[in-house]
Amino acid sequence: MSASYETLMTLLQVRRSCREFAPHRLEEDVLASLEAAFAQAPQAGGDRHLACHFITDSARLHKLAEAGTQAFADFCDRIPSAFAREEMRQYGENFFWFGNAPALAVVTCRKPPAFLQAVMGDKAALPWGGDLSGAMAAFALLLAAQTLGLGACCLTGPLTVWREMETRLDIPKHDQLVLLVVIGYKKDSI
Ligand SMILES: Cc1cc2nc3c(=O)[nH]c(=O)nc-3n(C[C@H](O)[C@H](O)[C@H](O)COP(=O)(O)O)c2cc1C
Repeated sequence: MSASYETLMTLLQVRRSCREFAPHRLEEDVLASLEAAFAQAPQAGGDRHLACHFITDSARLHKLAEAGTQAFADFCDRIPSAFAREEMRQYGENFFWFGNAPALAVVTCRKPPAFLQAVMGDKAALPWGGDLSGAMAAFALLLAAQTLGLGACCLTGPLTVWREMETRLDIPKHDQLVLLVVIGYKKDSI
């Protein structure tokens, strides 16, 4: 099967971030289709242990957003410079709005191995490519969501408080959070 350039361009052009959703839950087969698209993306080294877990429990999502909001507020409070503190607060305005979303995809990858960290220090992530692979797979997720009549939006803002997020999301120590993707039926679409 060959996909046409026109089809791809249409998909790329119509996809836009969605931040307002209908309260409708995502069906199991829809979640399975999203997972299948995610799994098709290329990965550095062929395997960076990418994972995409969907949170659809509204109470858990609500709590996660609330905890992130609080952790971010505490983080801002600890910034010594009044100017930087205010800049950071404004920067964070669009980070924790996902509490009422129908689903949140949690994208993780394996951290760089010990030998690479020993040799390259904090630059180990560059050749490892785990988070870039995760980002590519997230884009496959965005495009799949579009074809399934869903809206979606990537979120890296919540990673300002990555420790809080990783703890609450039970991410294993050898993995890291790459990004979150909010997904659902668009408001007024059904
Ligand atoms: C890696 C990445 C991280 C993003 N993080 C956030 C975020 O934390 N909060 C948010 O509201 N939007 C976030 N976005 C959405 C962007 O703001 C949006 O993609 C951009 O403004 C372009 O708009 P479009 O997606 O409608 O084309 C993110 C997008 C990407 C690709």
